[in-house]
Amino acid sequence: MIVVTGGTGLVGAHLLYELLCHTHAPIRALCRRKDTSLLERLFQTYAPSLADLLSRIEWVEADILDIPALEAALQGATLVYHCAAKVSFATEDASLLLKTNIEGTANVVNVALHHGVKKLCYVSSIATFALPKAGEAISEETPQEPNRERGNEYALSKYSAEMEVWRGVQEGLPAVVVYPSVIIGVGVETHPAMKVQKLCHSPYVTGGGTGFVAALDVAKAMRLLMESPIENQGFILNGTDLSYAQFFELLRQSHPLLPKKKCLSPTTLRLLYYAEAFLWLFGRKRMLTNKLLHTLQHQSRYDGAKITQVLPFSYTPIEKTLEKLSL
Ligand SMILES: NC(=O)c1ccc[n+]([C@@H]2O[C@H](COP(=O)([O-])OP(=O)(O)OC[C@H]3O[C@@H](n4cnc5c(N)ncnc54)[C@H](OP(=O)(O)O)[C@@H]3O)[C@@H](O)[C@H]2O)c1
Repeated sequence: MIVVTGGTGLVGAHLLYELLCHTHAPIRALCRRKDTSLLERLFQTYAPSLADLLSRIEWVEADILDIPALEAALQGATLVYHCAAKVSFATEDASLLLKTNIEGTANVVNVALHHGVKKLCYVSSIATFALPKAGEAISEETPQEPNRERGNEYALSKYSAEMEVWRGVQEGLPAVVVYPSVIIGVGVETHPAMKVQKLCHSPYVTGGGTGFVAALDVAKAMRLLMESPIENQGFILNGTDLSYAQFFELLRQSHPLLPKKKCLSPTTLRLLYYAEAFLWLFGRKRMLTNKLLHTLQHQSRYDGAKITQVLPFSYTPIEKTLEKLSL
C-alpha cells in the first residue's frame, strides 16, 4: 500500500497523478478534507482518457497532528510519501508553520516506524541550505543552515522537520529526501503561498532570480527514488536557474497578454517593506520580511544534477509547464 500525505496540494496531487499513471499498487491519499479538484485538473490537462484511474485512490481524512488518525491511516502502508506541510512566508503563520511541519513530520515518522514502513520520501526544500560563496551553486554538499537569516520560519520548519526524518533513519526507517526549487505546475496559479496571479499580472519584477522545477518532474523523481534501492540520501531537484525577469519573459511567450515587466530598484523595495510594516500596525498581513527582501534581489543558483546521474531521469524544459498554466 502506497500512502501519500498532502494529496490535495500541489506536490501531492502531481505525485498521485504520477503514481496512478505508473504503478499498480493500491494508493491511499491522506487529506483533512477530500478535494480532488486539482487532481482532476491534472488528468484534464495531461491525460483526459485516463481520468477513470482517479477511482483507484482511497481517500482517508487524517490531520498529521492527530496521532490516532495517523495511526489508522498508515495501517498497511509499505511506502509513504510525506508531502503535507504548511507552506507560508507570512510572519503571522510562524507558529502554525513550525507546529505543522515539525510536529506533523515527527508524527508521520513515528507512526511509519511503528507500522514498519519500508521507505519514506520526504519533501524538504532548497530553503534549508546555507548561502554559497559568490558565484557558486547550492548542491547536496552545501551545508544546511536554516537560521541563516532571522524571520525565515519556513526554512527553519523544513530543516527541523527534515531532522525528524534523519532521526527516523537512525531508528530504522529507510528514507529519501528531495529538495525542490520553486515548483511550477498546474495548480500553482492558486497556491496559497505563491501569490502567482498577483506576481504575474504586476508590471514589476525584482532584480534577483532562483531555481525552478516542473511539478511533474518532482513527482517522477520521487517515484523513481522510492522504486530504486537508493536510501538515506538527499537530492536537489532543480530544472533551471532563471532571473525573475527571464522567468516572466518565458511566461509571456505562452501568455502574451501578461504585462511586460519593469525592474524595481532596491530602494523602492525597501520603501515597500517600511510601508507594509506600517500597515501591519493596522492589522494587515505582513509578507515582506528582511529575508524575502534579500531573496527577491539575489540570484540563487542550484545544482540539480545528482539525480540525473543515478536514475534514468532528466528535467523537462520549464516552458512546457508554463504553457499549461491558466493566467
Ligand atoms: N511549492 C513549492 O514551490 C515547494 C518547493 C519546495 C518544497 N516544497 C515542499 O513541498 C511540500 C508540498 O508543498 P505544496 O506546494 O504542495 O503545498 P500545498 O499546495 O500548500 O499543499 C500542502 C498540503 O498539505 C496539507 N496539509 C497542511 N496541513 C496539514 C495538516 N495539519 N494535516 C494534514 N495535511 C495538511 C494540505 O491539505 P489541505 O488541503 O487540508 O490544506 C495540502 O494537501 C511541502 O513540504 C513544501 O514545503 C514546496
